[in-house]
Amino acid sequence: MAETLLEVSGLSRYFTVGKRKTLKAVDEVSMTMRRGETLGLVGESGCGKSTLGRTIIGLYEPTAGTVRFDGATVTAGRHRELALRMQMIFQDPYTSLNPRMKVSDILAEGIDNHRLARSTADRSQRIVDLLESVGLSQEHANRYPHEFSGGQRQRICIARALSVRPDFIIADEPISSLDVSIQAQVVNLLQDLQREMGLTYLFIAHDMSMVRCISDRIGVMYLGSLAELASSEDLFAKPLHPYTRALLSAIPIPDPKEERGRRRIMLKGAVRSPIDMPPGCKFASRCECRKDICLADAPRLREVEPGHFCACHDV
Ligand SMILES: Nc1ncnc2c1ncn2[C@@H]1O[C@H](COP(=O)(O)OP(=O)(O)OP(=O)(O)O)[C@@H](O)[C@H]1O
Ligand SMILES: [Mg+2]
Repeated sequence: MAETLLEVSGLSRYFTVGKRKTLKAVDEVSMTMRRGETLGLVGESGCGKSTLGRTIIGLYEPTAGTVRFDGATVTAGRHRELALRMQMIFQDPYTSLNPRMKVSDILAEGIDNHRLARSTADRSQRIVDLLESVGLSQEHANRYPHEFSGGQRQRICIARALSVRPDFIIADEPISSLDVSIQAQVVNLLQDLQREMGLTYLFIAHDMSMVRCISDRIGVMYLGSLAELASSEDLFAKPLHPYTRALLSAIPIPDPKEERGRRRIMLKGAVRSPIDMPPGCKFASRCECRKDICLADAPRLREVEPGHFCACHDV
């Protein structure tokens, strides 16, 4: 399973805002993903997680850098085969389904567009199989999205993504809008599907505890850049970046004794604006380890220990 599926090199996506101001939503991100792994991507709201996902999948043209998927370069306005193999699931299952389409038509869209069914019977069978693979049944095929709960709608979105038999899925906060009681079910479903189909996931989320459960590796983003990237185990056991340490220190620990003995790192100082960013480390304004060099020079992400990457002058 060591085979590289995705290779992101120096990827940037800027937006122009106001009068000629540049917002660096994604700023020189480099990483690779192995086939079959789950990479969790975390970071505060607005740090560029969704923009990174959308640029990887080709929904946005990169401002700079490249994305290679299974050896081929991804470009926006995509290569047909890559369009099939990479799919995205979004946060809000309410707005991502067309309310005027029946579930069967929603699921058939990709199958029809890409002429995947051999016959009408094959097409119907594929729809039934898709429904069953996400824990729904044949009777649901003729209903409309409003007849389903949030969790069921997200299952429909997952089935739609699977309809074209992808091998890579970007799940952009797929459970954030769901009831807590439903979240675990959808996560379990995604994990089962991964095992059955050998899927590779880029899983975008806010919640560190959940990301820890499901991810082989975790990437921590701060203002458009990767601050740290490591296996889940290493990241939690030995967080290196001051921002990661602050994020982890904010997670409640169930054991009250341990919780009392621990230091919570409060982030002080203002988050810098991603617009017209000054030089230096983006985290410097809030960092408790800041040195002079941090204001002058942006640290690059480097491999500090085997497989453990960090962008910090102090590490
Ligand atoms: N189409 C756009 N035009 C201009 N600015 C944008 C656009 N999309 C995103 N941005 C800006 O880019 C930055 C990153 O946004 P993005 O949505 O990728 O963050 P995020 O990490 O996904 O946040 P959240 O956790 O809230 O979903 C933000 O400052 C956002 O305002
Ligand atoms: Mg987002």
